[in-house]
Amino acid sequence: MTPYEIIAKKRDGHTLTSNEIHYFIREFLKGRVKDYQMTAFLMAVFFRGMNFQETLSLTEAYLHSGKRLDLSDIPIPKIDKHSTGGVGDKVSLVLAPLAASLGLAVPMISGRGLGHTGGTLDKLESIPGFKVNGSLTSFKKQIRSIGVAMFGQTKELVPADRKIYSLRDVTATVNSIPLITASIMSKKLAEGIDGLVLDVKVGNGAVLPDQKQTETLASNMMKVGQAFGKKVVVYLTSMEQPLGLKIGNWLEVQESIECLQGRGPDDLEELVVELTTEMLLLAGLVEKKNTARCNCREALQNGIAFEKMLQLVRAQGGNVQVILHPDNYPLARYYKELKANCNGYLTGFDTHELGLISVALGAGRLQAKEQVDPQAGIILHKKIGDPVKAGDTLLGIQTNRANIWNSIQQRLRAAIKISDKPIQPPRLILKRLAS
Ligand code: URA
Repeated sequence: MTPYEIIAKKRDGHTLTSNEIHYFIREFLKGRVKDYQMTAFLMAVFFRGMNFQETLSLTEAYLHSGKRLDLSDIPIPKIDKHSTGGVGDKVSLVLAPLAASLGLAVPMISGRGLGHTGGTLDKLESIPGFKVNGSLTSFKKQIRSIGVAMFGQTKELVPADRKIYSLRDVTATVNSIPLITASIMSKKLAEGIDGLVLDVKVGNGAVLPDQKQTETLASNMMKVGQAFGKKVVVYLTSMEQPLGLKIGNWLEVQESIECLQGRGPDDLEELVVELTTEMLLLAGLVEKKNTARCNCREALQNGIAFEKMLQLVRAQGGNVQVILHPDNYPLARYYKELKANCNGYLTGFDTHELGLISVALGAGRLQAKEQVDPQAGIILHKKIGDPVKAGDTLLGIQTNRANIWNSIQQRLRAAIKISDKPIQPPRLILKRLAS
């Protein structure tokens, strides 16, 4: 079959064979399937979907596009976490050093911003000097010495995801169950881990806003993990509002530092503690959930998780001074605030729209090769359930783009719902599924 015929077969809703999928991905990496053919294929998959066998083959094809880490000679449990992506979702930045400070090895391969959601790699790169693309050897060496490494897909590690991810980001092909499954699971399977905790977001800021589709995604990822003999636990968690108060690359690092010093926002800390607890239980390092929770909270309070963050930043070439003194980080040129124009209660966000606005401010990409602006983003002053008085600041924006305020002010206002009646904030942790 030619690449053209494979694209046409999927476009017409037929099932691809494993050979066809492997061939298409292999030829793409060799440059014989062009970017425009790959994006046509991605759009065909987006509309037609893939059955489980096709999704498994796609995951394998991504995985086989590079090498796999062999961490079997590191005698501590290797457990990772990955999220399907959300707005203000900075959990990885806190959880990875926290879990490592409690005795786990965390070999984390992350991604960049995708669509309206932020990416761990872009956030880490807002720390001056921080490198996310070391060799396989340096990745392993770092896991052995400090128990945590946070890298991106490279030419060696899941290169198929690296190339396809950046195409999906700018061609509206992010929110597809098989594409998300292959992207996430190939990275995790390449890490040589024993177990995985997945944070699948549900709600209007998630990659899949529909709860039924989200549950299918969760069970697909769990089944792929099982097919590869991995222990997988999936959490469904709310993305009805941004996590924490800050959205944007450096802003999220800053909020993560606060959380690592035991002064993070409650929702962020709650989710970090829950997911890290699950990692400790999965590893068998702790037997009781309550003990694991207490260990996590203690490590955030007593400085050992923060100390691990400093080791991580140092190991990957980052400037630890900015982590020690985050207030010295240079500010964006423009700062504006959105004020409430009535009294009431904040009852909802259009979280997806807030993600898109932060991209417009410079925090994400509209084209594959675009640089993100580390300083750009949104700072929330209110969350769902908070009372609001006319004149209160609802949020602030930071950007280096002159004249953007006029074009986003109305969009921001429309993305925040204020009503007369108070409501309870949405529950953060919705469901736990285990294989
Ligand atoms: N995270 C990933 O790594 N890939 C996706 O497709 C979505 C979230």
